[in-house]
Amino acid sequence: MQQRANQTQSLVFMECMFIGFNRSHLTLAMIPSSFQASVAVFAQIILHVSALDTFRAAVYEHAVILPNNTETPVSQDDALLLMNKNMDILEKAIKQAAEQGAQIIVTPEDAIYGWKFTRETIFPYLEYIPDPQVNWIPCQQPHRFGHTPVQVRLSCLAKNNSIYVLANIGDKKPCNSRGSTCPPSGYYQYNTNVVYDTQGKLVARYHKYHLYSEPQFDVPEKPEVVTFNTTFGRFGIFTCFDILFHDPAVTLVKDFQVDTVLFPTAWMNVLPLLTAIEFHSAWAMGMGVNLLVANTHHVSLRMTGSGIYAPHSPKVYYYDKETELGKLLLAEVDSHPRISPTYPTAVNWSAYATTIKPFPVQKHTFGGFISRDEFNFTELFENAGNLTVCQKELCCHLSYRMLGKEENEVYVLGAFTGLHGRRRSEYWQVCTLVKCKSTNLTTCGQPVETALTRFEMFSLSGTFGTEYVFPEVLLTNIHLAPGKFEVLNDGRLVNKNGLSEPILTVSLFGRWYTKDALSISGGTSNAATTYLLIFTSLMIIALQNTVMV
Ligand SMILES: *[C@@H]1O[C@H](CO)[C@@H](O)[C@H](O)[C@H]1NC(C)=O
Ligand SMILES: *[C@@H]1O[C@H](CO)[C@@H](O)[C@H](O)[C@H]1NC(C)=O
Ligand SMILES: *[C@@H]1O[C@H](CO)[C@@H](O)[C@H](O)[C@H]1NC(C)=O
Ligand SMILES: *[C@@H]1O[C@H](CO)[C@@H](O)[C@H](O)[C@H]1NC(C)=O
Ligand SMILES: *[C@@H]1O[C@H](CO)[C@@H](O)[C@H](O)[C@H]1NC(C)=O
Ligand SMILES: *[C@@H]1O[C@H](CO)[C@@H](O)[C@H](O)[C@H]1NC(C)=O
Ligand SMILES: *[C@@H]1O[C@H](CO)[C@@H](O)[C@H](O)[C@H]1NC(C)=O
Repeated sequence: MQQRANQTQSLVFMECMFIGFNRSHLTLAMIPSSFQASVAVFAQIILHVSALDTFRAAVYEHAVILPNNTETPVSQDDALLLMNKNMDILEKAIKQAAEQGAQIIVTPEDAIYGWKFTRETIFPYLEYIPDPQVNWIPCQQPHRFGHTPVQVRLSCLAKNNSIYVLANIGDKKPCNSRGSTCPPSGYYQYNTNVVYDTQGKLVARYHKYHLYSEPQFDVPEKPEVVTFNTTFGRFGIFTCFDILFHDPAVTLVKDFQVDTVLFPTAWMNVLPLLTAIEFHSAWAMGMGVNLLVANTHHVSLRMTGSGIYAPHSPKVYYYDKETELGKLLLAEVDSHPRISPTYPTAVNWSAYATTIKPFPVQKHTFGGFISRDEFNFTELFENAGNLTVCQKELCCHLSYRMLGKEENEVYVLGAFTGLHGRRRSEYWQVCTLVKCKSTNLTTCGQPVETALTRFEMFSLSGTFGTEYVFPEVLLTNIHLAPGKFEVLNDGRLVNKNGLSEPILTVSLFGRWYTKDALSISGGTSNAATTYLLIFTSLMIIALQNTVMV
């Protein structure tokens, strides 16, 4: 019973699920200031002198003002009114970022109009967004592509503040409604990122590919690989759920060699393996790329967690489930991380684990769940030890030494290999050290946010069949551990610089893309999606009631 309840909960709190409630806590924490002009001019001069070794990046976690009504269509004017309210706040963040010398700012997915739409009710929020090849500065030619007030305003914000701006908006593309894939309305509708350069010119447009329960949008024909060049490196773009898949995310890094990825998201945190700051920092490290993450801020849907992540360590991150405030983050980032002295060496993720003699397999291996995935677990009985736990072809090894064994805390080592979750389209391989929710072993794998146990030493490795492994370390109260761990080139994830802070989880999260099941892309309004929408909405309501009781 316990387990079943937990599985339901995990289903509801999946990442990137855009089902919301109409809350409109407006928040802004803005620091007014004045020396913007001089900074902008200074930045301009540097830009023209030479390519830069580093640049100043900004991301803004935005507490989006949601529309009151997403069930019946509103007028275009009302839609614009709402979008302008959100852009008023984004404008302050963009100005503030520019004043502090940022060359580029990322704003979140859904930041301008929210979520929970149908195809019809999103329509008044959409604009026709042309291919960047048309060479368009909306701020200078506001009427060139019809009624595009949102694009004009964003372009002017970039231009006026002399800063690259990424925003997430909705694109509509007329199609021949007699065509077989053209929706009955005669428009394709896309969840879209746009980027404007310092002149306000549209330089990039990306249509999200891996939709997550977004019946208002269409899946583009194929994944788009979108890059643009600047004097401070080459950039790639994708959105939210895209990060779990090979295309376009891995292709951008491996084949197109981007230096920095811009990543707007509306990410619902899922403990223990998929909180935003935890997974995103691990992806940056595993892929060896800068990742600029702007998450939507919506506490009751567990959306929080933004950051600027470099390949060797997070630069800055933010997680706040106490307030309803937005937050601007800034950091200095290497323009070309691959040629930086701190760039991590290539890792063979299975080298150590496949060559050592496995530790004696534990007698007390038991099955348990993280979300819907059935793991094999073994308990860390002693203060220190060497453990192995296997599932099918994956064996996970752990050597550890705790500072002291807390009476009320139990940790397990877990292994999982297989198709993940309810969708069963993504193939995961995971080795994880997790704190159990209670001392009852049936609670291992359930979300837990606090811990007391510190480790003097840990070393985690696994016999991974994939080269795509993301190293995660999450500390008590949802904190990261920059500078306190590293990955050795034989694939061991080890602690560094002494005693750890209390640990929630240490994990090697592997994605074996070539074993993925053919995915049924979400987003189309088919019966299954509709069913899921209704079901999850009900579950959220049920859970909220539970919480309130
Ligand atoms: C939603 O409705 C309330 C009350 O009618 C109103 O005060 C508020 O401005 C509306 N919000 C938006 C975003 O339209
Ligand atoms: C940009 O600046 C122009 C004039 O300098 C002003 O008219 C316009 O309102 C500004 N737009 C934005 C979005 O800041
Ligand atoms: C960026 O520059 C590289 C060469 O440095 C070039 O191969 C690539 O096509 C450029 N990309 C774009 C989008 O202009
Ligand atoms: C990783 O190391 C193992 C064990 O030494 C070796 O068999 C394997 O070929 C290596 N993999 C790669 C991709 O180098
Ligand atoms: C380990 O996992 C496999 C596959 O799920 C399962 O068949 C096996 O029973 C598990 N072992 C234990 C001890 O739970
Ligand atoms: C774990 O193994 C290492 C060598 O592989 C050994 O030095 C150490 O004593 C072992 N630790 C425990 C607690 O058994
Ligand atoms: C552990 O939890 C399970 C499920 O709630 C329960 O059936 C079992 O009795 C508990 N065990 C102990 C030792 O409390």
